[in-house]
Amino acid sequence: MKASPPAVSQYKFKPLIRWVEKMVELCTPQSIHWVDGSDEENKQLCTELVKNGTFIKLNEESWPGCYYARSDPTDVARVEDRTFICSLSKYAAGPTNNWVDPFEMRKTLKRLFKGCMAGRTMYVLPFSMGPIGSPMSRIGVQLTDSAYVVVNTRIMTRIGLPVYQEMDRGDKRVVPCMHSVGAPLAPGQKDVPWPCNQEKYIVHFPETREIWSYGSGYGGNALLGKKCFALRIASNIARDEGWLAEHMLIVGVEDPHGEKTYVAAAFPSACGKTNFAMLIPPEPIAAKGWKIWTVGDDIAWIKPDDNGRLLAINPEAGFFGVAPGTSARTNPNAMTTLSKNTIFTNVALTPEGGVWWEGMTEETPSRLIDWQGKEWAPGIAQKTGATAAHPNARFTAPAFQCPTIDPDWEKPEGVPISALIFGGRRATTIPLVFQAFNWSGAVYIGATMGSEMTAAAVGAIGKVRHDPMAMLPFCGYNMGEYFRHWIALQRKLSETPRVFHVNWFRKDEKGKYLWPGYGENMRILKWIVDRARGRARAKETPIGWMPHYEDLDWTGLDFRKEDFEQLQKVDRLAWRSELIGHEELFFDLHEGLPKEMLYERELMICRM
Ligand code: GTP
Ligand code: SPV
Ligand code: MN
Repeated sequence: MKASPPAVSQYKFKPLIRWVEKMVELCTPQSIHWVDGSDEENKQLCTELVKNGTFIKLNEESWPGCYYARSDPTDVARVEDRTFICSLSKYAAGPTNNWVDPFEMRKTLKRLFKGCMAGRTMYVLPFSMGPIGSPMSRIGVQLTDSAYVVVNTRIMTRIGLPVYQEMDRGDKRVVPCMHSVGAPLAPGQKDVPWPCNQEKYIVHFPETREIWSYGSGYGGNALLGKKCFALRIASNIARDEGWLAEHMLIVGVEDPHGEKTYVAAAFPSACGKTNFAMLIPPEPIAAKGWKIWTVGDDIAWIKPDDNGRLLAINPEAGFFGVAPGTSARTNPNAMTTLSKNTIFTNVALTPEGGVWWEGMTEETPSRLIDWQGKEWAPGIAQKTGATAAHPNARFTAPAFQCPTIDPDWEKPEGVPISALIFGGRRATTIPLVFQAFNWSGAVYIGATMGSEMTAAAVGAIGKVRHDPMAMLPFCGYNMGEYFRHWIALQRKLSETPRVFHVNWFRKDEKGKYLWPGYGENMRILKWIVDRARGRARAKETPIGWMPHYEDLDWTGLDFRKEDFEQLQKVDRLAWRSELIGHEELFFDLHEGLPKEMLYERELMICRM
């Protein structure tokens, strides 16, 4: 089989060709397709996906350029217990990652990948994380036997010919990403709409900067540029080179003076990053001249420049967003973004050839086909609690279609970051907003962050777990060393960004959210930006600086002072168990944990 087809024949990058040849020998695909990224190629792939039953073309009138896919019911989210960091030493992976000796793992992978693409096409998919030509961008090549992955990656990253050209320049290291759904086809065997394997391995080799993913076709398991590369591998590169690869959205906040302040925020999976990144300020605040610009909704690469400023890029080019809960009321920007040229996975299908999910409209359509392809009527849901869309159903939509996309979102050098926000989903204890006293205090707040688990990963939904910096499933090395790296970074900065913690999800005794959230989060963001610019007041509390009721702009919202105090309450008894929880976390992480974390906890206990 020829490893270099006519479409990219002018392309000379020898090491890639040799690697492809080696992998063809291992995986024995039926054919090779070198992805060029063109519109025609995309059309052809989508047509094939429709023919194979993986895609259903949605109604062209109401959903132009959109496709719908249903996954296998066993392949619906990231599999954290099947995700491995195979560094040379166990210490390098640290206590929070699954570690397997890399030599052992390579043997396992060789067995799994042997002949795994039989009867299928191997796609050679070159992609750039970050704008092509940006000094902060990185290149990867994914070899995959999934056309679904190719068309999704085309939206999520920059792919194709410009990336081959970039590789030909030869000055950037290429991250090899192997991916197979693990479902070889025997001669004459009919394919299924969503091929996958019950045995799953999502494997990273940090030292050699390699990714091997087997058995899943879904999201972060399969779109390897995203969590595997842009977070797990990139966090290793970032540590070596002195920058940060974070699970953060980036927004630009334009104030009435026309000045923009950029803020990056880390919330765990399905805890509100996409919503916050596309926030539309309430009308009366917008009328004063406040506006939000979107740079990214999931990942930020943040680097100090020569003047000690933090600059950030969004390494992605699309949004892989949670569909349920997204509506014209909660996130109109997202609704516009996903109105065309979007791929929907595991939502429900309407009889008119459109899509629907829980929370999209006030009224549930009377008839639907659910995410498993079954007839679904509202009555069924009431009895069984089953939802029409899977809770981790997602849309894959191009970022440039977002009405609030920042004019500088593809700026090669990135945008300057003035404030960082940590946040979790916590029904109790954690106030709506507070500000860290200083940098090591900020690292402590990020390190001890907790959140209820969501449907974004397979596991116990609703259980509170520690999720440091929202990076627990994504940090590609020892978590203690990661905290050290964060602490050390401050020495390179001429001005330290202000750091905050938020919780949109605090509930009352009856289980009702105390805070309206979504667009109203602007009131908190405004205070954050004003604090970062030194123009807002705050009071000192044991856990950090907090706004007085009067320090927030309540124009157009009837929110009582008592309710605000309830939201902001620091309950000493609850914080006592919170701090004991921090101790447990530190027990698990003790080997690499920086001293600053212990001192910060002692200080917190003293203040309590
Ligand atoms: P990942 O893509 O998994 O990283 O998730 P994300 O952090 O981008 O979360 P997203 O914005 O998609 O929100 C997840 C869920 O939280 C959705 O169902 C939202 O409707 C809900 N949500 C987001 N913001 C708020 C908020 O301010 N208040 C409340 N109550 N719910 C919110
Ligand atoms: C997350 O789980 O944080 C996501 C979705 O953004 S996935 O790409 O599947 O990881
Ligand atoms: Mn995410």
